[in-house]
Amino acid sequence: MEHIPSCEVSDTILCNVFFSFFCLRQLIYHSFAQYLVAEKGYKEDLLTVTAEEWDFCSKGLVLDLEEGNFLKLAADGTILRACHGTKTMTAEMIEEVYGEKREWKHFKTINGTYARSENSGTYFPTVKQDPGRYLKSCPESLKNWIRSLKNAGKTLLLITSSHSDYCRLLCEHILGKDFEELFDIIITNALKPGFFSLTPQQRPFWTLDNDVEVDMLPGLEKAGWYSQGNWVHLYDLLKKMTEKPEPKVVYFGDSMRSDIFSARHYSNWETVLILEELEGGEVQEPDMTDFGSSLKKKGKYDSPSQENYSISRKWGSYFADCIAGSKSSQDTSCVTWCCSSIRNYSTITIPSVMAIVDLPLDYKFTRFSGISDIDGYYPQPPAILLSQSTEGAAA
Ligand SMILES: *[C@@H]1O[C@H](CO)[C@@H](O)[C@H](O)[C@H]1NC(C)=O
Ligand SMILES: *[C@@H]1O[C@H](CO)[C@@H](O)[C@H](O)[C@H]1NC(C)=O
Ligand SMILES: *[C@@H]1O[C@H](CO)[C@@H](O)[C@H](O)[C@H]1NC(C)=O
Repeated sequence: MEHIPSCEVSDTILCNVFFSFFCLRQLIYHSFAQYLVAEKGYKEDLLTVTAEEWDFCSKGLVLDLEEGNFLKLAADGTILRACHGTKTMTAEMIEEVYGEKREWKHFKTINGTYARSENSGTYFPTVKQDPGRYLKSCPESLKNWIRSLKNAGKTLLLITSSHSDYCRLLCEHILGKDFEELFDIIITNALKPGFFSLTPQQRPFWTLDNDVEVDMLPGLEKAGWYSQGNWVHLYDLLKKMTEKPEPKVVYFGDSMRSDIFSARHYSNWETVLILEELEGGEVQEPDMTDFGSSLKKKGKYDSPSQENYSISRKWGSYFADCIAGSKSSQDTSCVTWCCSSIRNYSTITIPSVMAIVDLPLDYKFTRFSGISDIDGYYPQPPAILLSQSTEGAAA
């Protein structure tokens, strides 16, 4: 291994709001269940959830609305596992619906676009009523990290699709009443991923007065708090503020679709994916002895997580799986579509911002590259990818 390109935090830091500090999963479920029971006449037992049912709720699945099936997809679109509703489908059942090659006909539409329809529910009003119940404030060390970036001359941004009043509510709880001082530019109602994807028919920025959009702007002249907008006008402002022809932007986000794919694909920014699955059961198992050098940072950071991100028994690992061979052939291991997206569109992937706040600001991370599919995970890759890469090396 000669030269692995490294990624250094520099010039401009673009921070997506630290919404990872929510206890989200249960809130999303309960607000949706509440809606179905109260508004649509569903039975009340939807409101109680067993451990087995939580195990079924796994990130990285796609829902085939036409057939009513949840699908776990490999990087090339092959269906790895499927459930009809919550009932597991056998290999035979999968092949009956999707053919011998196990292809989902809409894969080509979502691959490379991350297209999806929108949701609604009682989620936002619920948080508004009782923010303390759902939001955890950031540890002081995280706020200090943001301050030290600013003191080191970085331009700090917050971009969120939430409206300004809601953003203020969240940030006051998460970052404190003085949160506006932490950032140079705040953009709300950004309507991601359209913020990145809609060029050249981009939406303009708007000024805000008391949370109301007032004036439409042909471009951005100075730092401040704005609504809507697009990355092209923002980037022009960053050039002015940094006095650099091509300021380097590092964008943090926890959505592959709205943040990471979009910021990389349309704007070619450096991207840091926040992925809770990178802690808990997905990293605990490996036998460390053979990986001393690549895992030397392990143990530096204690997870602040209150949730249990162990591997789903129903769906297996978020990152990889096996395709069961037919009678004659062997099982083959492969990475999931999500895992392939991480490697293609994120510069590095971390379990939480807390994993990096104690590092020196000029720390050089190893990025995902053509050389290795696992180098960009910090502090350590998921165990299942380590075992697959040693299988590969042995073969
Ligand atoms: C999925 O999209 C990527 C990026 O555009 C492309 O390289 C890959 O070939 C696509 N996969 C399939 C199976 O179409
Ligand atoms: C996480 O969940 C698994 C399966 O439900 C359980 O066996 C394990 O003890 C849990 N771990 C923690 C730290 O709660
Ligand atoms: C990632 O890139 C590789 C190589 O270009 C491609 O084969 C793969 O399909 C891509 N995966 C996704 C999810 O875009």
